[in-house]
Amino acid sequence: MTARIIDISREPEQALAEASARLAEGLPVAIPTETVYGLAADATNPAAITRIYETKGRPRFNPLICHMADLAMAERYALFDPLSRRLAESFWPGPLTLVLPLKVGCGIHALATAGLDSVGVRVPKGFAGELIRRFDRPLAAPSANTSGRISPTSAEHVAEDLGDKLALILDGGQADVGVESTIVKVEGERIRLLRPGGIAAEDIERVAERAIERQASPAPTIEAPGMLASHYAPNASVRLNATAVRPGEVLIRFGGLPVSGADVASAVFDLSASGDLAEAASNLFDMLHAADAVGAGRIAIAAIPDQGLGEAINDRLIRAAAPRDH
Ligand code: TXA
Ligand code: MG
Repeated sequence: MTARIIDISREPEQALAEASARLAEGLPVAIPTETVYGLAADATNPAAITRIYETKGRPRFNPLICHMADLAMAERYALFDPLSRRLAESFWPGPLTLVLPLKVGCGIHALATAGLDSVGVRVPKGFAGELIRRFDRPLAAPSANTSGRISPTSAEHVAEDLGDKLALILDGGQADVGVESTIVKVEGERIRLLRPGGIAAEDIERVAERAIERQASPAPTIEAPGMLASHYAPNASVRLNATAVRPGEVLIRFGGLPVSGADVASAVFDLSASGDLAEAASNLFDMLHAADAVGAGRIAIAAIPDQGLGEAINDRLIRAAAPRDH
């Protein structure tokens, strides 16, 4: 199979119609979201969900995020406590995933939730939301990349990696946010951060008027089971908190700060010359892809501040640098 690629800004109607048709056939479709490109399939169709796993080469079934058109649709599938609803109203559509009790008999298949009695839900911004409204079923969608590899932030990334395994890729240009959604779970009065992501934990704390409970990163026990230690791996090895470049390395720096030995680097990228963490997040996966394309054996990455979206960036970088079993 060679994927057909439709540009959603040039042919929005065609994109909606073809994507709905493929989804109805039970095929996964790569779609743009504001975070990263997703490999979306009908969350009520077990054969379709199985194809997501086959396409990604994901070794086992992890619960997938179920994407909804809006809060009203999400309420058909999940039970909202008042605090989760307040977060949804503040941050949806947007890069926030809420883990909520699943409504019994709602139609989401157990393969999408890995048999749990909870479900991760989010309402993506933009075209993905329109597609879900048209299809009128939740879309289960992990990132559209081979398991363990860097998440795609452009249709080109998806095509390079999975183009021969997919029927359709929708091209929505460069993903805005660039890292996956923040995942939280409300438990009574507590909010737990299951994965840092595209919404800064501090922003959630402001709306929730309480502190978020963080866990050690990478999580020692796999509560969000997708969060295996080695994830987001480029082909090159990754060295973090680099203060000097070694010969043959590609350098990724931040904030325009000089790193000694940069002149011997095979290439130099800056996540954000102005030191803007949102810009850095949106460039992260693209620059890891680009650094890999240089063909260097190792990528040296300067320290990134750990506040705001820096928390999600550092989470992904720690995983990119983790020892690999694949
Ligand atoms: O931004 C995103 O979230 C992207 C785009 C495509 O929307 N999606 C994404 O999905 O990152 P995925 O499948 O790669 O991440 C799902 C994460 C996993 O870590 C999984 O374990 C966690 O969500 N998750 C899903 N349902 C859960 C549940 N019921 N309880 C705990 N964790 C859950
Ligand atoms: Mg992923």
